[in-house]
Amino acid sequence: MLDNIALIGFMGSGKSTVGRQLAQLLGWHFTDTDSLVERVAGCSIPTLFMRDGEMAFRDRETEILLGVTAGERQVIATGGGAILREENVAALRGAGLVVYLTAHPDVLAERVSRRPGQRPLLTSGEEPALTQILRMLAERGPLYQKACHILVDTSDRSPRALAEEIVRRFQKQKGIS
Ligand code: S3P
Repeated sequence: MLDNIALIGFMGSGKSTVGRQLAQLLGWHFTDTDSLVERVAGCSIPTLFMRDGEMAFRDRETEILLGVTAGERQVIATGGGAILREENVAALRGAGLVVYLTAHPDVLAERVSRRPGQRPLLTSGEEPALTQILRMLAERGPLYQKACHILVDTSDRSPRALAEEIVRRFQKQKGIS
């Protein structure tokens, strides 16, 4: 196993926020695959979805994931749908510890509402965000569970406390303490 920690989980689960803290604690590089997709595509994710469709986004996401998982000493924050492709999951698990960040659906709905329009999969329908979240979680929950090595609930703890817990559990897995 390479020295990386990958964060997976639903939109709003805290992957980027916790990931930044975690990278800082470890002195590792922070990599956000959504940001890299945007850089390579030359536009925002909502624009990419609108212009080229979800499949084009997924192809770019896989390309980026396969590239970044070759590196070491990085915290990798993934997009919420990264677990939808088996090759993504295999690359993440081969690269290091895969941490599933969960949160109560109400908490997820509140967090995603803070950045309206940024998540094309939650803004396209007539349904309330919470209804969409519950439906998507029913489908994706088992995939996140299967993809991860450990699970951490982010509903009611600070990013710093969560990052510290992940460091502890990472060190334990590696037999460091
Ligand atoms: C997606 C989650 C988003 C982004 C894209 C698709 C998903 O990332 O990759 O909008 O399928 O769940 P975040 O989880 O960082 O919001």
